[in-house]
Order: sequence, then C-alpha cells, then structure tokens
Amino acid sequence: MSDRLLSNKIALVTGGASGIGFAAARLFAEEGAQLILADKDPKKLMQAENWFAEHNYSLLAVECDVCDSSQVASLMAKVQSVHGHLDVLVNNVGDFLGRIKPFVKMTDDDIDDLFSVNLRQLMICTRDAIPLLKQAAQQASIICISSIEGYRGMPNIAPYGAYKLGIEGFVKSIALELGPDNIRVNAIAPETTETDQVQPKKWISEANYPRVKEWIPLGRFGQPDDIAGSALFLASRLSQWITGTVIHCDGGALAAAGWYRTPEGAWTNTPVITESGIVGLIDND
Ligand SMILES: NC(=O)c1ccc[n+]([C@@H]2O[C@H](COP(=O)([O-])OP(=O)(O)OC[C@H]3O[C@@H](n4cnc5c(N)ncnc54)[C@H](O)[C@@H]3O)[C@@H](O)[C@H]2O)c1
Repeated sequence: MSDRLLSNKIALVTGGASGIGFAAARLFAEEGAQLILADKDPKKLMQAENWFAEHNYSLLAVECDVCDSSQVASLMAKVQSVHGHLDVLVNNVGDFLGRIKPFVKMTDDDIDDLFSVNLRQLMICTRDAIPLLKQAAQQASIICISSIEGYRGMPNIAPYGAYKLGIEGFVKSIALELGPDNIRVNAIAPETTETDQVQPKKWISEANYPRVKEWIPLGRFGQPDDIAGSALFLASRLSQWITGTVIHCDGGALAAAGWYRTPEGAWTNTPVITESGIVGLIDND
C-alpha cells in the first residue's frame, strides 16, 4: 500500500534486535519499510528474525558489533550490495554498561568504553552510512537515540550523560553538513523506558511502582513503542522540514525537572520535605 509512511524505504537500525530498536524496526516494517537490523547479540537477532518471518516482512539481519569500525564497514558494504542505498539510519545502540560509580572512581577504561558505545560508534556508523544515504531517491533521515540523562545531571555515571548530550552537538553540526544533500539529522532523548537494559521493576518495589505518577507527569514509565512512535515521525515525510533538533520523549519528565506530585496529587519542588515549600503557599481559592 503506497499510503503507508515508509513504503519502499530501506531502514537500518543499530541494536535493532531488542528494546527500543526492535520496537522501531517493527513499526517501520508495519509502515512499509524494508529493514536491516545490526546487532551484536545473535540470540536476540534470531528472535527478531523469527518475528519478521512470521509477519512476512523483509529483513536483512546482520550480526555486528558497531563499536568495531571494521564490522561497521562490512555492514555498510552488505547494505550497498543488497539494497544499493539507505533511506533511514537509526543509531540506536547505547549502553551505560553497568558502570555506575562516583566519577572519582571511573577508570580510563570506563570512560573509554562508555565513549565507544554511546558516541564514537554513532559517529562511525553515521560517517559510513552517508554515501548510502546520499543514494536515496528522496529525502533521507538519520535518527540518533540520546537520553534524558544528557539533559539533567546524573550522579554516578557522568560520562554516559556527557556523551548522550554530545549526541545533540553532533546532530546539529551534521544536520548543517547534510542539509544540502536532503538528509535530515535528529535525535530522540527518552526518559526511563522498560527494556532489557533498563528494568525499573528490579529497583522499585511492587508497592511503590504506582508512585511513578508522582515523578513523571504522564504517569508511567516509557514503553519501547513510545520511542518508536517518535522515530517513525522523524523517519517519515511528516517531519520533512525538521532537522538538527531533539525530541524529548519523556512523559513530561524534563519539563517537570525538580517538580513532583505528592501522594495527594499536589505539586511540590521539595518532595523529601513535603510539609514545606510551595505546597503550603498555593492559593486554591
Ligand atoms: N531504556 C531506557 O530507559 C533508555 C532511556 C534513555 C535512552 N535509552 C537509549 O536507547 C537506546 C536503546 O536502549 P534499550 O533500553 O532499548 O537497550 P537494550 O539493551 O534493551 O537493547 C539494545 C540492543 O542493542 C544491542 N547492542 C548493544 N551494544 C551493541 C553493539 N556494540 N553493537 C551492536 N548491537 C549492540 C543489544 O544486543 C540489544 O539488542 C540506547 O541508546 C539507550 O542508551 C534508553
């Protein structure tokens, strides 16, 4: 059907075998795209392949560690030989690698490894995909997955936040460079989204789980499909005049910043001292 948003488009999703990447890949396929998934985990890749086969969607699954430049070069060569061009690149890979510790204890390897998986590989993938994106018959789109943690301080994993914010700097500059080639470049910065990597159910008790509504204005954690929806928008003609920017896909968390709802539903910016602060000053009349 030609009225689907990504009919006949060729889309590559890095880390596309699970979580946010897989949700985006699934949605893109439902909107008519032919997918390439590049993922380093062969088991997850096989599960993704099964889903695509069950639904009769076109898929090229490539086992690839995007932190390895030679594997990225082979990936792009494969895309070139199978499809000859690329319409959409989703730079989805990113990971805090479980390196949660005060910055003073971060080793050189911690800093380098977090750089490699959160920013370096994204630049390598983008650079190597540009010749393929330039071959697109119509406008092409690059989408980079950042994080809300780039837009607020995050204790005990400072490099992750720094590199995720770095994505915005990269996106802006490359958007300028690629605008004349009709290639758009944007990012999405999600708030906590339930995936294999981020499992809030493991660190919040069942009793406290519903209290997420005190923290996130839209009242829940993200689901991979929430982020996939923004990715579809940025991949499609619906965003054809948008480049060099970031969508905060976060249920309003960044807008709320230090503001929270009390269990009674009032707003407070002093959540640990709920009897004071602006709560008592609000004129409800
Ligand atoms: N889940 C969240 O709460 C959240 C919030 C903000 C930003 N993000 C970002 O969203 C993106 C996806 O996160 P997710 O939660 O879906 O992660 P996930 O761990 O659930 O899925 C990531 C996928 O990428 C693959 N992968 C990891 N390293 C790779 C590598 N070097 N080469 C190839 N494949 C690799 C994994 O095998 C996996 O299939 C990341 O960039 C992450 O930083 C996630």
